[in-house]
Amino acid sequence: MTANTGQSPLAPGWLEVPADLNALHEPLWAGGVARNDAGELTIEGLTVSELQREYGTPLFVLSETDFRARARAFSDAFNDAFADICGGVDVYYAGKSFLCTSVVRWVEEEGLRLDTASGGELAVAARAGIPGADVALHGNNKSDGEIHRALDMQLGRIVVDSLDELERVAAIAANRGDTAKVMLRLTPGVHAHTHEFIATAHEDQKFGLSMAPDSTDQAGLSAAEEAVAAAIGHESIELLGLHCHIGSQIFEPDGFALAAEKLLDFLAAMQVKYSIVLPELDLGGGYGIAYTPVDTPRPAAEIAQAMAAVVRSKCAALGISAPRISIEPGRAIVGSTTFTLYEIGTLKTVRVDAPGSEAGGVGNDVTYPRRYVSVDGGMSDNPRPVLYDADYSAILASRSSDAAPQLSRVVGKHCESGDIVVRDVYLPEDVAAGDLLAVPGTGAYCWALSSNYNYLARPGVVAVSDGSARLIVRGETEEDLLNRDMGV
Ligand code: LLP
Repeated sequence: MTANTGQSPLAPGWLEVPADLNALHEPLWAGGVARNDAGELTIEGLTVSELQREYGTPLFVLSETDFRARARAFSDAFNDAFADICGGVDVYYAGKSFLCTSVVRWVEEEGLRLDTASGGELAVAARAGIPGADVALHGNNKSDGEIHRALDMQLGRIVVDSLDELERVAAIAANRGDTAKVMLRLTPGVHAHTHEFIATAHEDQKFGLSMAPDSTDQAGLSAAEEAVAAAIGHESIELLGLHCHIGSQIFEPDGFALAAEKLLDFLAAMQVKYSIVLPELDLGGGYGIAYTPVDTPRPAAEIAQAMAAVVRSKCAALGISAPRISIEPGRAIVGSTTFTLYEIGTLKTVRVDAPGSEAGGVGNDVTYPRRYVSVDGGMSDNPRPVLYDADYSAILASRSSDAAPQLSRVVGKHCESGDIVVRDVYLPEDVAAGDLLAVPGTGAYCWALSSNYNYLARPGVVAVSDGSARLIVRGETEEDLLNRDMGV
């Protein structure tokens, strides 16, 4: 009953009708993305239609220039903040967010290190030729093969996740006549304000060694302390220090600061009790980015300074010299470097009851339009909306438009009604099949979480730098899809 323009009652409260549908909200986009005079979206001067012609859609378009700039900026912000405390910070890029050999090389060239979480990620690191000393290995269930591989590659650190694993690492290293460099991952019990599935420092989940006293332990030691005592008893283990990761997509520094304080208290207590020095403290990743215009993450420098202030004062209060600090950002480096380019296909508009009204209720005949805009990918190239209710944003990319805004839901082509790419966004009323749509902020945990559901081929990744584009991961072909099918 209402016009298709203006604020829709179906839209969530946070979503505003943009004043200009053609404008780019800068924090969501990589540097170098703009609209040209003809109204088309460009990256470093390359138009999206050129990119589609050359590489097809869906396509991940990643700015190498922006990746390098963000890696440097993040590293500079933390190094500046911690310079007087521990001589700087070691920044491990979390490869799980997006990894391929080109990225490993950029990371290395920008002076960062690499955090991996499986044998496969180690294989990418090895193929890229990064020195093992600059690589960390994570995982709550590392296989013996992965532990051997870590030792073969002489990794700078294996982050041990449990007492069980500590014993396995110690035994494998001892059998090889090796020494494993180990960090212990602890769960400081800090509540991170993020989605339950990406919060990782509370007690009741699979990661890490609990810092809570264990009533079933004879001496009442926590699992964390048991691990410290066990580690220093093993000649095949070199205990470097402690690690925590409180969760992901976190905007406020408080959680990181609280976790740092808890780990420093523990580190100081262990140093006194066991007469050891633990030279390293890793505070993990989890720094949030903007996915929609209402997300306002704090600048890296602000978070770094808040964390540094806490580390400085806590170490002074404890009378210990500060350990070398390291961090593991993934999303904050790669997330905003990338947009996904889709081609629009089927459009349909449904009429929906006003939120809160009961369908078919007497006298309630007011309905509102919601337009479904189908694109040529979906949950197979970005499962984050399905997994975490993640919100994204989207714009018409192949042209500008003066048409009125219409509340739209961008959906994929999979056989699931939950296959949503952007739950709520205003797009011009005149978008049509064949138009290109760009979804920003898809650099982290999209390609990395992609699948072949419905036998869709995973998209390629194009890197743009110096005004030109090249494939850094080619898209899959039908042959790729079929060549593991044994046909027997
Ligand atoms: N360090 C450790 C030990 C981690 O487990 C993670 C992420 C990171 C660092 C990097 O976190 P980041 O800075 O990227 O937030 N798939 C989810 C996120 C899972 C995060 C897993 N661990 C998502 O798409 O939101």
